Amino acid sequence: MTDPLIEQYFAQILPETLSPIQSASAYAPSNIALCKYWGKRQYSLNLPHNSSLSISLAHHGTHTQIQHSPDDQDHILLNQQEQPLNTPFSQRLLTFCNHFRRNQPLPLLIHTTNNIPTAAGLASSASGFAALTLALNHFFQLNLTSRTLSAVARIGSGSASRSLWHGFVYWFKGSHPLGNDSYATPLEYSWPDLRIALLQLDQRPKPISSRNGMNHTVDTSPYYSAWAELAEKDISALYQAINEQNFPRFGQIAEDNALAMHASMHAARPSLIYWQPQTLSQLHHIHHLRQQGLPVYATIDAGANVKILFLAQHQHAIETELNPSAIINPFSPNNPKIPLPL
Ligand code: PMV
Repeated sequence: MTDPLIEQYFAQILPETLSPIQSASAYAPSNIALCKYWGKRQYSLNLPHNSSLSISLAHHGTHTQIQHSPDDQDHILLNQQEQPLNTPFSQRLLTFCNHFRRNQPLPLLIHTTNNIPTAAGLASSASGFAALTLALNHFFQLNLTSRTLSAVARIGSGSASRSLWHGFVYWFKGSHPLGNDSYATPLEYSWPDLRIALLQLDQRPKPISSRNGMNHTVDTSPYYSAWAELAEKDISALYQAINEQNFPRFGQIAEDNALAMHASMHAARPSLIYWQPQTLSQLHHIHHLRQQGLPVYATIDAGANVKILFLAQHQHAIETELNPSAIINPFSPNNPKIPLPL
């Protein structure tokens, strides 16, 4: 059953009938928030309590191709493997496509490839829904603006609203009841020396989805309102640090913000803990490296994996000390092209 608010939102932006082309494809990068989104003021449209700011993960993301189905059923391929249509993954994806198709019989063949582990705290849903939104926009010749595409991707997964651009992206929380003003926009700042490393500590899917985790935190954590207030202050301070390219300040705000988000979940009833022992030991290691004079900062999403922020001149030390599974240059001139309208 479709949510009436979602139906209302899509009725505002879609034509009466869709005119698909033969095939469309799109790439979108994953992103990690430096000031996190945690908690919704409205559940079905993913309208957040606080604004957030992210950095995109360059070539770590999702390619999605959409074609007409060869028969009268939908088909979903994830990393070349056909998925049963009744899995939560397929259902979420098809529900999203149905917002576009409404009652039109348009069976699709959707082929999606992730070059990051699905559901391991590395935000594959962000790049997944962003790439799907871009591919659907092209496939159905919708010509939606980038703001609308961001708001649409947000309905798939909140953080997907920020995955339509490379670099720094700011998602305004907005206040419109249908979320017309809750979209993301890229920041003009480039920081060519900034690097992100992924410490892959746990490849298992997280035990509780970020959707359920944040709803539980909003509903039960006595610290939730403090978190939402703090996030608004952090985002202004972070914006300022980016503007000044003040790396220690930038890194410290991002790390503090992530730990404050986790504190809000740790205080939920019952407590929600995504960390594993290795998460905490890496945090201590990073604090120790900082005390020794290496400017390195951590951020952690709804999972056990740690992502780190550092500058290019320290790459060798980071590789030696932390053995990352990937190092990302978010402002590389070779980043894959994102097919986004102006
Ligand atoms: O968009 P979701 O439902 O995957 O939630 C993302 C939540 C965090 O990754 C923890 C924070 C964020 O802003 O990306």
